[in-house]
Amino acid sequence: MVKRAGGALLLSIAIDPDSARPISTQLYVSLRDLMLSGAIAAGQRLPASRTLARDLGLSRTTVIDAFDRLIAEGLVESRVGSGTFVSDVLSRERPRAPAIEPPALPAPRKASLSKAMGWAVNRFSDRSRLPHVPRAFITALPAFDAFPMAQWARLVAKHWRGAREEVMGYGAAAGHPGLREAIAAHLRANRGIACEREQIFITGGAQQAFHLIGSVLLNPGDKAWFENPGAIGARNSLWACGADLVPVPVDQEGLRVDEGLKRAPDFRLAFVTPSHHQPLGHILSLERRLALLRSAEQAGAWIVEDDYDGEFFFGRRPLPTLKSVDRAGQVIYVGTFSKSLFPALRLGFMLVPPSLVDTFAKLSSAFVQGVPTSVQAVVAEFIEEGLFATHIRRMRRIYQERHEALCDAAKRDLAGLLDVAPTDSGLHTIGRLDRGFSEIAVARAAAERNIVVSPIARFSIEPTGDNGLVLGFGGVKPAEIKAGVAVLAEVLDALALPRRRA
Ligand SMILES: Cc1ncc(COP(=O)(O)O)c(C=O)c1O
Repeated sequence: MVKRAGGALLLSIAIDPDSARPISTQLYVSLRDLMLSGAIAAGQRLPASRTLARDLGLSRTTVIDAFDRLIAEGLVESRVGSGTFVSDVLSRERPRAPAIEPPALPAPRKASLSKAMGWAVNRFSDRSRLPHVPRAFITALPAFDAFPMAQWARLVAKHWRGAREEVMGYGAAAGHPGLREAIAAHLRANRGIACEREQIFITGGAQQAFHLIGSVLLNPGDKAWFENPGAIGARNSLWACGADLVPVPVDQEGLRVDEGLKRAPDFRLAFVTPSHHQPLGHILSLERRLALLRSAEQAGAWIVEDDYDGEFFFGRRPLPTLKSVDRAGQVIYVGTFSKSLFPALRLGFMLVPPSLVDTFAKLSSAFVQGVPTSVQAVVAEFIEEGLFATHIRRMRRIYQERHEALCDAAKRDLAGLLDVAPTDSGLHTIGRLDRGFSEIAVARAAAERNIVVSPIARFSIEPTGDNGLVLGFGGVKPAEIKAGVAVLAEVLDALALPRRRA
C-alpha cells in the first residue's frame, strides 16, 4: 500500500497500485468517504484534476474518471470556470458519523449560585432559541427584506475608512456621544420626550438595560409589578436580579392599576409596555397612565417604560409616551434598535430621570461597556443623515400592508377557528382561539408544519384565562403570510375534526 503525500486531504488518500481494484475506483472511493464523513465539507472546492494527478502520481485521465463518477452520483458539482465543488446536498444528507463514547467524567459538582440567580434559574422555562430567520409567524424579527442595506453598507464602509483611532479604543463608558445626542434629538422630535444627551445610556439591547435597572434599583425580594401576560426578556432579567414579580392582569385599557395596588401597594418598580402591550397589543389608556404615575409617586416606585415597537403605528394616532408626561421623574424609558433596525446589532438604550444620571454615569464608567463603538457610530450617522426617520416612515407603510394581508387572509381562511384581532401598531397581533382548542397543542401542531405561533401562556407568570396565539406579521412577506394562514387553517381544521365528529 502506497500512501501519497501532499496536503492534509491528500495525506489520507491511499492508493494501492497492486490492488485488483482499478486505481480510478480507489480514488473515487477515497474521495467519496472523505466527503461522506465530513472531512471534506459541503461547498468545499476539490483540487484541480491536474494538481491532484500530479500530487498523487496518477494520470489525469484516472483522476477525471473518478471525478466523473462523483459528479454522476451528485456528490460533487462541476462549475464552469470555477472548479469542482462538494455538493451542498451533503450538508443535509450526510449520515451521522458513529458516535464516539465520551470518556466517563466524574459526576458534576452541584454549582452553588447566588440567591437571586438560584431563584431565577428555577423559573426560566423558555429554552427555545431566538429565531434567526423570518418565517410565518415569528414575532421577534422586523422586515429584513425591507432593510436599506445599500445605505447601511455605505455608512459602514465610510466609517472604517475614517478616523480609526476614535473607534478602536475603549469607547466612552455611557455610549458614543454622537449616538447619545442623535437618540435624544430623535426622542424629542418623535416621542415627545424633553431630554438631554446626558440622560441617555447605551446598552447591549433593551435586555441589558432591564438587567442593569433591576440590579441598580432593586434588592432581592423587592416587589415589582409586571404585566401578566408580559414581556419574556424583561421578566427574566428582573427575576435574575431577585425581584419578586407581582403579576398584574391586563385588559383592553392595559395594566390594571387597581389590581396592582390590591396585590402589592408597596411595589418598588412597575414594568409596562404602554404603547403596544407585549403580547396582547393593547394601548395603556390615558386614565391608567395617570393612575400608574400617581400610584408610583405615592409608593416611591420606579416605572420602566419599554417602548420596543411604539414607532410603528399605522392606525389611530398614538398616545404620547408615558415618559413624556412624567412630571415627577419616575419613569425610565427603554428603547431598542432590534425592531427599528435589526436585532443582531444588540443595541438599545435607556433614558433615565435626572435624579439617576450620576448613578448610571458612575456605574457605566466602573464597568467596560459592551457595545462596539463602531456600531454606535454608524447608527449615529444613520440617524443624523435622516435615514432612520425615512426608514421608520417606510416601515410603517410596510407593516400596515402586512397587517392587512394577515387580517384579510384570516378573514378568508380562519373564520370560526382563530379570531385575529386587528391592531393599530407594531409587528405582531393576537389570534384568539375557541375554548375547545389548547393553545399549546395548536402551537405544537403548527410547529410540525414549520409555522411558528406562540401560545399566550409563554408570556404569562400565572394563568391568565387567555387562550390564543401571538402572530408576528412584520418580518413576513405578504405572500408568506397568506401561505402561512392557509397552513394554520389546515392545522386547526385537523385539530377541530375529532371535536366535530364527537
Ligand atoms: C417587549 C420587548 N422589549 C424589548 C425587546 C428588544 O430586546 P433587545 O433590544 O434586547 O433585542 C423585545 C424583543 O423582541 C421585546 O419583545
